[in-house]
Amino acid sequence: MRRFTPLPLVLVLALGLAACAADDDPVEPVDEPMEPDMVETMAGPDTTGAAVWAFLGDEAYQTNWGLWPDKGEFYTGQEPHGMLLTTYLNATAMEALQGGATEMPAGAVIVKENYMPDSTLAALTVMVKVPGYNADHNDWFFSKHLPDGTLDQTPDGMAMEGRLTGCQNCHAARAANDYLFTGDLGGEPMASN
Ligand code: HEC
Repeated sequence: MRRFTPLPLVLVLALGLAACAADDDPVEPVDEPMEPDMVETMAGPDTTGAAVWAFLGDEAYQTNWGLWPDKGEFYTGQEPHGMLLTTYLNATAMEALQGGATEMPAGAVIVKENYMPDSTLAALTVMVKVPGYNADHNDWFFSKHLPDGTLDQTPDGMAMEGRLTGCQNCHAARAANDYLFTGDLGGEPMASN
């Protein structure tokens, strides 16, 4: 009689596949069933602004996620993102950054809060890594939200969600750093704090 595959083997396979996904090669769909707690770390929101906002609420990101290392709250930003910034990484993104990854893995989510000089929240910009979603721009989903979660709009009235030209063209200046400006990927592995 055939026995069901023992759990550790499934885990080893899943970890092996996750390691392959870190290469530059296109990510193959993973057919292996994943353990429930791996799904929790790897799954990101769907690619709509509304789903992203709901995900951030469910995650209570301000409480449960980490700040970009060495940045703290209300650090001084550059154009166009506003005067004071606070940037959060979910666990998937944080582990990749601190582990010295050269690109963000599936399900990495980065939220940057833009504050006015008087510390009033003005807007939030979000980047979510979704394999297969945006091949020309390292598979990033972009969105920009007002503080109540509604999507900001472009000057011609389009909701700011998806493969946003303005966001991705500017961030492409950092294509070698997986489109991220704030810090350099591929550093020495850091101790998590
Ligand atoms: C003209 C260039 C430019 C445009 C357009 C732009 N960004 Fe950025 N973005 C930056 C810079 C520069 C930073 C680094 C923040 C800082 O220190 O000021 C940044 C940081 C970020 C970060 C934090 C992660 C990182 O890359 O460091 C997110 C998230 C982000 N931007 C999202 C967006 C979204 C979403 C849009 C479109 C709505 C957008 N950005 C448009 C230049 C741009």
